[in-house]
Amino acid sequence: MCGIVGYTGRENALPILIKGLYSLEYRGYDSAGVAAFTGQGLRVVKARGRIANLEERLRAEGELRCTCGIGHTRWATHGEPSDRNSHPHLGGKGKVAVVHNGIIENYKELRDRLEAHGYVFQSETDTETVAHLVDYLHTGKQEDLAQTVLAAVQRIRGSYALGVVSMSEPEEIVAARRDNPLIIGLGEGENMIASDITAIIDRTRRYIILDDNEVAVVRPDSVTVMNEFGDVVEKPVQTVTWDMSAAEKGGYQHFMLKEIMEQPKAVGDTVKPRIAKDAVLFEENGLTDERLRDIEHIHIVGCGSALHAGMVGKRVIETMCRIRCTAEVASEFRYENPIIGKKDLCIVISQSGETADTLAAMRLAKQAGAFTVAVVNVVSSTIAREADGILYTWAGPEISVATTKAYSAQLAALYLIAVKIARVRGLISLGDERALCAELQRLPQCIEQTLGCQQDMQRIAALYANRPSVFFLGRGLDYAAALEASLKLKEISYIHSEAYAAGELKHGTISLIEQGTLVVALATQPALFEKTVSNIREVVSRGAVVVLITTDDFTGDTSVCQHIVRLPKCLYEFSASLSIIPMQLLAYYVAVERSCDVDKPRNLAKSVTVE
Ligand code: G6P
Repeated sequence: MCGIVGYTGRENALPILIKGLYSLEYRGYDSAGVAAFTGQGLRVVKARGRIANLEERLRAEGELRCTCGIGHTRWATHGEPSDRNSHPHLGGKGKVAVVHNGIIENYKELRDRLEAHGYVFQSETDTETVAHLVDYLHTGKQEDLAQTVLAAVQRIRGSYALGVVSMSEPEEIVAARRDNPLIIGLGEGENMIASDITAIIDRTRRYIILDDNEVAVVRPDSVTVMNEFGDVVEKPVQTVTWDMSAAEKGGYQHFMLKEIMEQPKAVGDTVKPRIAKDAVLFEENGLTDERLRDIEHIHIVGCGSALHAGMVGKRVIETMCRIRCTAEVASEFRYENPIIGKKDLCIVISQSGETADTLAAMRLAKQAGAFTVAVVNVVSSTIAREADGILYTWAGPEISVATTKAYSAQLAALYLIAVKIARVRGLISLGDERALCAELQRLPQCIEQTLGCQQDMQRIAALYANRPSVFFLGRGLDYAAALEASLKLKEISYIHSEAYAAGELKHGTISLIEQGTLVVALATQPALFEKTVSNIREVVSRGAVVVLITTDDFTGDTSVCQHIVRLPKCLYEFSASLSIIPMQLLAYYVAVERSCDVDKPRNLAKSVTVE
């Protein structure tokens, strides 16, 4: 979702801003723009579409030299993607420029009032109200820009990360944040603002995380952060721990394929530090034995693939721990007045740690007295910082919008939680725990082996890439895995696809099966093999072509299936970690066959910071 970058220093800001924008591309966007101080004042250049369009426009406009500026990638919310609606937006008569991530909920009311004061709006965006509001509050007042922004944000309802520049302070960027991520990169004689680390890591590894309601004054040689009362606050300086190469393609055609291949490592890095002496060890995440023994209900919340990981986790936890566990859509959970008890555990899953609905759901659970534990990939993200306990997935930076390795690491984290709870509650013996830990440690190797199906999946993808729709079937864990498989395919290949609980298909959806319809069936649970095979027969009888994903040891009749992909042996409870691998590869190669923009699918954002 929208990306913000800003630079103030001694070098030419423009190439730095453009480079920063490129590194924010993965968040998802539909237009881009920059604002910079030049000899002639504050210049704004922006363009609909990719950053390359912006660069072309910049070239056409002639050289733009400056040492301070802000840039933005926009993911449209208010108003279509267009040049006009792109950020930065100018306030007043071009004295102020603003970039924004989030939603200003009272923008209409503010817009009406500002129009009554004579302000003329150029766009349909909510952001432009901030630009005019800052100008209105700034004009004719003694206050400096930071105080003005502080006054402006107090009149705003909604969420924002803001970068503001003004003709009155040509070396200064004022940044502000509420419910949207924003960091400040600290350099030598230069400082930056950015939505995330990828935009600053090229110039500095040191950064400050802005907290809600804070405003920062960023100049080449100083950074001052104030709280909502205008008091200066000391902020801890963080250091980026990963290397730039982790966010590069490393010879792969797409980040997605690289990240698919990195899954053994992501799972290994997540599991290994949590297993010591054949037992699951949770040291600093607050999941004490006492707390785990007392849990009455587990709520798992998340969005997209994180929710799907939660749906797998729910099944594994209920099977192993016999505790009621629900996996809930964060955007529903937050508004449905959920029943949350003081002895409940809320597991919040998020790769980015910034998803607006997931964050709100977590805050709600916390307020209701539940213990919240976050399964998060991005270190020090908002969800990670606000949760009572944190279980990081060590998948490393994930760039492709469609998640793969972070999802796999989330599954591993949930298995660890399941084993731990089962042991603490006396449902498994010491020996069982030892065996489960051994299985968990073997998982990376099983995933590695499963990746061996790459060429088969490429071949199958080439055969079916032109299908208008695809159905995924499974029962139990396989149904949860089918949901993720279907999401992967539709989000990157734009083929309509649906996941169905195999037994439910005949209650309506089977009417869509016709000659040649592609059905992918997942059958990894021995207790349900025969049931799923019966459902496969039902679709084959109606003309479907079936790809079956099953285990190495399945000996049933598979003669009606066109293609069979066999998974190496692993604990059946952990099979979703293997069955998703061929599904990710299928989605990937179908998207490649269809010449889709694999890493940046249309309309999607990596980090969804608005609700
Ligand atoms: C977006 C992404 C999905 C992701 C979901 C939740 O929709 O495109 O890949 O699963 O957000 O994101 P999170 O960062 O909370 O895991």
